[in-house]
Amino acid sequence: GNPCPNNLTWAEGKVSYDERCKNLNQHGLVLWLTGLSGAGKTTIAVEVEKELIKRGKSVYRLDGDNIRLGLNSDLGFSEAERNENIRRIVEVAALFKDAGIITLVCFIAPFRKMREYARKKIGSDNFVEIYVKTDLKTCIARDPKGLYRKALNHEIREFTGITSPYEEPDHPDLVIDTERFSVSEAAQKILQKMSPFLKYV
Ligand code: PPS
Ligand code: MG
Repeated sequence: GNPCPNNLTWAEGKVSYDERCKNLNQHGLVLWLTGLSGAGKTTIAVEVEKELIKRGKSVYRLDGDNIRLGLNSDLGFSEAERNENIRRIVEVAALFKDAGIITLVCFIAPFRKMREYARKKIGSDNFVEIYVKTDLKTCIARDPKGLYRKALNHEIREFTGITSPYEEPDHPDLVIDTERFSVSEAAQKILQKMSPFLKYV
């Protein structure tokens, strides 16, 4: 096998990516939803997930809140920790993709550099970047978890949009303006966008 650093050798299997996909009757795909806290990433992804399951697809959702309760519970919200959070989740998403799963990734992922890293690592043929676009003012008004109130009261440090930056995507594959579309309309847009990927040939 190929020698790797640290005395490691990649252990090749007898099953290829194509064989895994053939069994699942689909290709692996990463749908990456980025946006402010409270923008609607989770809500929209939950809907897309449900629709894909109805269509018989193998799908899984990786969600910032959930992953930070487990795998990434050692990480906070400094720039370095957010980058490590995303670095790990790119690895996990790449594994899910390699398993042939359609993976919905819902993380703020506020830094362009890390989203570009994600696309490069996963490969642009299997990567769809979706910007869930909601005005900061609207997110503050919605405040579904009461986090903006806390952040504005200085009870949370480094809160995205308040005391920590969010870099908007330059060229996302899809922009969802949540002030113009309902959750189910947003989900339909995503399903439409991914329809070329859903055909298994
Ligand atoms: S990041 O920036 O990609 O590492 O963040 P992510 O892993 O997506 O986690 C975001 C969720 O964590 C909660 N939360 C915070 N968000 C932003 N800034 C700070 N300081 C913070 N503290 C806690 C919040 O519930 C986020 O979930 P969403 O669904 O985005 O609102
Ligand atoms: Mg969420």
